[in-house]
Amino acid sequence: MKVLFVTSEAFPLLKTGGLGDVSGALPAALAEAGEDVHMLLPGYPQALENADHVGVTIALGNILGFEDVSLIEARMPDNGVPLWLINCPQLYDRPGNPYVQDGKTDWPDNHLRFALLSYVAAILSVPDNACGWTADIVHTNDWQGGLTAAYLHFWGIRQRARTVFTVHNLQYLGLFTPDVLPQVGLPDAAFSIDGLEFHHKVSFLKAGLYYSDAITTVSPTYAKEIMLPEFGCGLDGLLRQRADSVHGILNGIDDDIWNPKTDPHIPHHFSLARRTGKIQNKAALQHEMGLPADLDAPLFCVVSRLTEQKGIELIAKSASALRKLGIQLAILGSGDHHLEELLSVISGLDLGIKVKIGYDDALAHRIIAGSDVLLMPSQFEPCGLTQMYAMRYGTLPLVYKTGGLADTVVDCGTAGDGTGFVFETASTDALTATAKRATDLYRHPKLWQKAQRNAMSQDMSWKHAAPAYMRLYKNLAAT
Ligand code: ADP
Ligand code: GLC
Repeated sequence: MKVLFVTSEAFPLLKTGGLGDVSGALPAALAEAGEDVHMLLPGYPQALENADHVGVTIALGNILGFEDVSLIEARMPDNGVPLWLINCPQLYDRPGNPYVQDGKTDWPDNHLRFALLSYVAAILSVPDNACGWTADIVHTNDWQGGLTAAYLHFWGIRQRARTVFTVHNLQYLGLFTPDVLPQVGLPDAAFSIDGLEFHHKVSFLKAGLYYSDAITTVSPTYAKEIMLPEFGCGLDGLLRQRADSVHGILNGIDDDIWNPKTDPHIPHHFSLARRTGKIQNKAALQHEMGLPADLDAPLFCVVSRLTEQKGIELIAKSASALRKLGIQLAILGSGDHHLEELLSVISGLDLGIKVKIGYDDALAHRIIAGSDVLLMPSQFEPCGLTQMYAMRYGTLPLVYKTGGLADTVVDCGTAGDGTGFVFETASTDALTATAKRATDLYRHPKLWQKAQRNAMSQDMSWKHAAPAYMRLYKNLAAT
């Protein structure tokens, strides 16, 4: 099967969050299982620099008013998956974050940047295109790829790839004013409730949900949650209508990159059988973060984008209660200004909390490796990868029961019979009570080690998800 995997970020080319990790790993897992996978990304400078270049360029001509758009053939650096980078310097040749400028504000031409990505994906989904390769399945991700299925619908070409749209986060609706429609090459007819219209705007995400042949999301629980008003971001009605086409497929993790035996970012390697390295990492982390050198103190951590989703305010409100439990807290995060400010304020108080604001991949690995508990009280979480990385490193996740967190973390109870700690009410009291249970278990090394063993021996690789996607592709191709 020829699969075109369309994404706006992919590790190690560039990454802002979990979508980058998934895009770095899932196509390789599909290729290993026998699919003919090609990836398609915008030709950001970081992607052009970090990809292994094959160098051939395929001219696509004028698209959406941009002259001389072309595709640069390349390969992914570590796994060799074939990659096309869209060459359109006017849209993509700018440094920094793929979605926002100066760290915060959306690029003003995001509608064009990601319409072009979707448009090129649609070109590769119909026969006799300039590349001589036509996808059987075009698999797009989040709002940035949402227009692909809309183009294919309005072009009305019968022989075309089947479309799969994966929702990594329903909250990002890809909203623009209706006047962008002619600019992105869609007819006025698209501005309809049965189409892209969403509260007088156009939503690129809704385009993906409305026109794709299949919708997937990244955990079974989130697949159910998004059909409820509470989690549906105003699209729960449409998702209920399309319930037969919605599939929840739990993400995997790249267990080569996140492997405590070989991780190049951590000072001491360790494994299930040899855990002394974990304790040495803890000592090194306490030193690096400026926390008191105390191996007996339970060391909790947060590694997160700083958005409302991630429950950062709940952590801040619980900080002094956590302090009373003797917990140390190491935080790495970047994102919303007010949450960065909030964390900077609490790190200045005497609460045993040290905060690094910024995006630092190597430090993320050191923090996850050196901590005892990962705190992830997200209000909602489509899947969450960080809790799975933590488990792999024997760092027990403490999570709110939602989405992929509910699907991946099993509560330890009082006997260490699980892989982490789960609370069911989003309140400081519930979080603190669960942190107390965690610290109680921590004081029983045998039980703690039992739980660490459970967590570290989970198979969270892509071996399960890749075949699930392949079954879906096969079923769609038969329709
Ligand atoms: P989301 O995609 O919602 O951010 P995930 O848990 O799926 O959540 O994935 C987050 C990914 O981003 C993980 O690989 C995590 O290590 C990484 N990450 C998040 N914040 C930072 C940061 N400040 N520095 C480095 N890596 C980070
Ligand atoms: C999104 C979600 C996160 C998920 C990731 C990868 O960023 O917020 O829960 O793990 O995508 O699918």
